[in-house]
Amino acid sequence: MSWWWERSTGAAAKNISNEIDESSQNSQNVALIIGVTGIVGNSLAEILSLQNTPGGPWKVYGVARRDRPAWNTNHPVHYVQCDISNPNDVALKLSPLTDVTHIFYVSWTSKSTEAQNIEVNGSMFRNVLNALIPKAPNLRHVSLQTGVKHYVGPFELFGKIKANEPPFTEDLPRVNAPNFYYTLEDILFETSV
Ligand SMILES: NC(=O)c1ccc[n+]([C@@H]2O[C@H](COP(=O)([O-])OP(=O)(O)OC[C@H]3O[C@@H](n4cnc5c(N)ncnc54)[C@H](OP(=O)(O)O)[C@@H]3O)[C@@H](O)[C@H]2O)c1
Repeated sequence: MSWWWERSTGAAAKNISNEIDESSQNSQNVALIIGVTGIVGNSLAEILSLQNTPGGPWKVYGVARRDRPAWNTNHPVHYVQCDISNPNDVALKLSPLTDVTHIFYVSWTSKSTEAQNIEVNGSMFRNVLNALIPKAPNLRHVSLQTGVKHYVGPFELFGKIKANEPPFTEDLPRVNAPNFYYTLEDILFETSV
């Protein structure tokens, strides 16, 4: 049975050990999931930890602010409680993760205006990159998840600006409006040159 079929049928949960698998300590791929308690991050943590996931078995670090939730305790994830909006906390907790090879950035916070979204989400992402890039020599991939607002603009401008028409594809032009997703992309572009 392929790894993705196992996942889609829910068999994945049966493979998850209560303990961190020692073999993952020596794995080539080391994931840092920012937002591990979220909808995307939690699923990613479950899948990356499986023995038959491509590139695996992965060693997985997972970051969120709250205490490790009970529903996450069986995931073989090195849980790091950290507020990524606080640069000191990020430097303290994430800089020691020198073996990270892949960052999966699946965190976001929603404010009342897009200007605030840009400010806060941009700072959060910068804090993570600033802490990791100088300290993780094997870092080779940063995965940044965005969403449909990339194509239709921020919530506050729905219906007020010219948006892209579906179907949406990644090569569509940006909408001419402020958008924190664009800020995150630009930070990543600037950082990776
Ligand atoms: N779910 C959707 O329908 C959807 C739709 C479109 C796009 N997306 C995009 O997909 C990505 C992931 O979304 P999601 O729905 O999985 O998000 P989510 O369920 O809201 O989870 C956000 C995660 O980020 C963590 N987080 C938030 N602020 C943090 C901080 N200051 N420090 C550390 N951790 C923090 C949260 O944990 P704590 O609260 O414990 O800190 C949580 O683990 C985002 O880029 C989002 O824009 C999602």
